[in-house]
Amino acid sequence: MRIVALLLAALCLPAAAQEKSGAEVYEATCIQCHGDGKDGAPVFGNRKQWGKLVKEGLNELVPTALAGIRKMPARGGNPALSDGEVARAVIHMANAGGGRFPEPSPDDINRWRQKADKRLRK
Ligand code: HEC
Repeated sequence: MRIVALLLAALCLPAAAQEKSGAEVYEATCIQCHGDGKDGAPVFGNRKQWGKLVKEGLNELVPTALAGIRKMPARGGNPALSDGEVARAVIHMANAGGGRFPEPSPDDINRWRQKADKRLRK
């Protein structure tokens, strides 16, 4: 049993370690517009602007961030970001705006990806 667990850890850890945190993704990409509200982007830490979005919840926000909406480019315009990295960046911003969302599970991320794919096909 212990060997299996070690093998699993060895397989999973490198991939997980390369994933950027929500804060890192925000600082590298999202801040370009969400730092000062360029093109009407909801401003980081502005609870008034984020309050409505936080109520909509992650099932709305993450697929929107993955697929893009109006002047918000898909994945914040950075196609190199993984689904999980985009999701964690959304959570980082939503929580700075008054949300209390936990770290996403792999199931959450898959569900959000599928929802975004449906929107992209429209
Ligand atoms: C080029 C500018 C730009 C960048 C970069 C950008 N955004 Fe946005 N974002 C916008 C704009 C503009 C809106 C407002 C869109 C609207 O409602 O018309 C927005 C809205 C959003 C929303 C709210 C969507 C909703 O349902 O109304 C989320 C969530 C979001 N962005 C996440 C992100 C994340 C995560 C990143 C970084 C990976 C990012 N954005 C990078 C411009 C940007």
